[in-house]
Amino acid sequence: MKKISIAIDGPAGAGKSTISKKVAKKLNINYIDTGAMYRAVTLKMLNKKIDLSDKENIIQVLKNTKISYKNNHIYLDDELVDNKIRTNEVSNSVSYIAKIKEVRDILVEMQRRISKNTSVIMDGRDIGSNVLPNADYKFFVTASVEERGRRRYLELKEKGINVELNDIIEKIKTRDKIDSTRAIAPLKKCKDAIVIDTTNKTIDECIDEILSYIVERR
Ligand code: C5P
Repeated sequence: MKKISIAIDGPAGAGKSTISKKVAKKLNINYIDTGAMYRAVTLKMLNKKIDLSDKENIIQVLKNTKISYKNNHIYLDDELVDNKIRTNEVSNSVSYIAKIKEVRDILVEMQRRISKNTSVIMDGRDIGSNVLPNADYKFFVTASVEERGRRRYLELKEKGINVELNDIIEKIKTRDKIDSTRAIAPLKKCKDAIVIDTTNKTIDECIDEILSYIVERR
């Protein structure tokens, strides 16, 4: 099979990672979760109690930080942090860290390196527009903010975490706003991306839709 690259972008909680993981499995290619990388940097800053508006300090700490992504696992300074990066605290802070140019430069370089010689499906906010502008396929996966909030609420409830639905929706709106209005590589739908609206669809329907485009163009 020839090398392929698939870019999946979209707002928080639209189902990107669930869909991407399954498409990766079906096509037998690598799934790269770029959000996990921004989350790992954020976790480091929270652990060190760094003020999230203190850019200089963040950049300084970053110089002595090791982020690695291997076989779908994320490591912070060689510690496996797959679960620690999924807390509400990290989710509510990550957009402030992801705005910083120096953070993005390091992570984008890493993402490009990972995808250089191998077939990937990569999800994030700036994959089609910035990380892999020449991707073979670009999708913009989205859903209404109410539905995204509802999904996140159910996910947290299942984990035994008590949250208010309205609060979750507001937090998602804030994160989307910061992600889509930042100066560097903001979240946006590329002209050549296909929109997949997951609001009223099952995961399997979304996967079939994505695969139909990939098969069609081969
Ligand atoms: O995908 P996920 O929701 O885990 O991403 C967490 C955050 O990381 C996003 O809200 C965004 O601030 C940042 N991010 C980004 N660029 C990417 C992926 C994630 O800025 N390519």
